[in-house]
Amino acid sequence: MDPRHRSWVRAYVFVFAVSSVLVSFGRGESESLERLGVSTGVFTEEQAEQGAEAFEHHCAGCHGSALEGGFGPRLVPLDPFVYDGALLSKPFAYMRTEMPFDAPGSLEDDVYLAILTFILRANGYPSGDEPLSAEDDALARYVLDDPPAE
Ligand code: HEC
Repeated sequence: MDPRHRSWVRAYVFVFAVSSVLVSFGRGESESLERLGVSTGVFTEEQAEQGAEAFEHHCAGCHGSALEGGFGPRLVPLDPFVYDGALLSKPFAYMRTEMPFDAPGSLEDDVYLAILTFILRANGYPSGDEPLSAEDDALARYVLDDPPAE
């Protein structure tokens, strides 16, 4: 190859390499912010079933077995002013720190998580194939969008 041509090739390769690094940086950022709707099915049926049992035990006394409310507010539908478009980490953080009202923070994280999935199911969100995880801010990836119409 003639040397002049080679330096052009090198310049091309360099520009290409730099721009793909920049592109992948940009993409990395948007990927970590990529949000998924809860309506896409973000918990398993099994989790919701576990949650149903735990809810009956720890929460139903105030929120009602059908989540219709009582001493505590109803949880179906979830208050749209508080939760419409919110990240899933919002109700989770609230439940974990404030509930049960008479014994805040007294349950294990995975129990709160299961209860959250039960509440989601009761609000019309479908289950999916992957269990919901509370690790590494996973809940902040999910947005409370509209549940699918029945
Ligand atoms: C002793 C009664 C009691 C128990 C038990 C209880 N709650 Fe509550 N809950 C309340 C009251 C009262 C409020 C309203 C608190 C406020 O507005 O400050 C509330 C509020 C909530 C909210 C917010 C509702 C909204 O519209 O913003 C959620 C979610 C919730 N509770 C979930 C739970 C879960 C999950 C459990 C079981 C782990 C539970 N609660 C157990 C009394 C209770």
